[in-house]
Amino acid sequence: MTEQLKTIGVGLAGFGTVGTGVWETINKNGDLITNRSSNQFKINIVKAAVKDINKKRINDAPPNLFTPDWQDVVNNQDVHIVVELIGGTTTAFDIVAAALKLGKTVVTGNKALLAERGTELFQLSKLHNAAIHFEAAVAGGIPIIKAVHDSYVGNNIESMTGIINGTSNYILERMTTAGLAYPEALQEAQQLGYAEADPTLDVNGWDAAHKAILLASLAYGPIIQPDEIYVRGIERVTSTDIAFANKLGYNIKLLSVIRKHPDGQIELRTQPSFIPKSHILSSVNGVFNAIALKGDASGDALFYGRGAGKEPTASSVVADIVDAAHTCSSGAPHRGFLPYSDNTSIMSIDETSTPYYVRFDVTDRPGVIAEIAQILANDGVGISGTHSPVDPENPDKDFVDMVFQLHTCNFGKLRSTLKKVIALDSVNSEPVVFRIENL
Ligand code: HSE
Repeated sequence: MTEQLKTIGVGLAGFGTVGTGVWETINKNGDLITNRSSNQFKINIVKAAVKDINKKRINDAPPNLFTPDWQDVVNNQDVHIVVELIGGTTTAFDIVAAALKLGKTVVTGNKALLAERGTELFQLSKLHNAAIHFEAAVAGGIPIIKAVHDSYVGNNIESMTGIINGTSNYILERMTTAGLAYPEALQEAQQLGYAEADPTLDVNGWDAAHKAILLASLAYGPIIQPDEIYVRGIERVTSTDIAFANKLGYNIKLLSVIRKHPDGQIELRTQPSFIPKSHILSSVNGVFNAIALKGDASGDALFYGRGAGKEPTASSVVADIVDAAHTCSSGAPHRGFLPYSDNTSIMSIDETSTPYYVRFDVTDRPGVIAEIAQILANDGVGISGTHSPVDPENPDKDFVDMVFQLHTCNFGKLRSTLKKVIALDSVNSEPVVFRIENL
């Protein structure tokens, strides 16, 4: 160690699963990190704010590390970097805003906070020249933020298509391969520590949507507002559709699509989709995430890794802490993300086009297929296949599932055509629609 070795103080707001992982990783690999910094600095966790300071913790953290008051962390003069790991968008906002106002660098894994309130926070970041680093906010241990921000800086990013919620990917896989019902699969994901404390955002698509917003902001420059993304979750995926997908050669995945079109519009959506079993994203299972990125110079790349869990997420938080420590120790301007454009238009979901899988619950009587097909034909919506399996135990039952695979058309046209189909007497409920992503 040299005489110039500085101590960079870190304060944690939150010491749950990820906070504990950060503590353990820095204790385990602190010397390695110092060596890799050319012996410029040593990282020291100074304070940690927790809800319950009396809670028994399975690690060697000394009791005086903990405080019940986040202000003790943010205002501590030995804390240079504030790490926000409590989640949510209220107290977390206060913590991050207070740190930025003091000119302290922030590291956060909180995608909801940045996607919902990023406009205010990035303004503060700019005003106080204090960086916000957020590698852990997207895809757990995969360094996709650094890749888009730094490694692909010489590219126009044409698209990023990915599976960026580990919990829903885990649930869909367990429903597909183990035949579990949705609630059982969700419970397993919670027990394994993949789901957020409140898993609502995992399963309703918003956790992935928040991440997609952050990726799109990095790639295209503006802070994108939550109401600009089209979002559907996995709560309504049924074993019936999983079985149809399987039979037709697909897996169902919660897919986020971020794509810049030649006219400059950005397609931005998160929804459960059919992916051909032969496509590499189809074999991304369990808690793993994957993002297929296409740059105009780089061509295609695939990022794959653990999208949730204690150590992978801690790995990304620690990487950000080290980045921030370099800035703190050298006095160089920070290299955290700042929005660099407000000139973006998000494509209306009605203009986006894919092929589709549509399942109708119909009363089985002569002519029903022809009636539906006629409406589709009148509107110029092409059919590439139909399926209506007979139940061998009950071949004459009255109500059946009728599946249509439809050629590519825009979503607006599909919606208006389906309204006419739903008006038929023989169609008993709203159809189930999935996009087929040929990628
Ligand atoms: N709950 C998230 C997921 C992990 O399942 O992907 C952190 O984003």
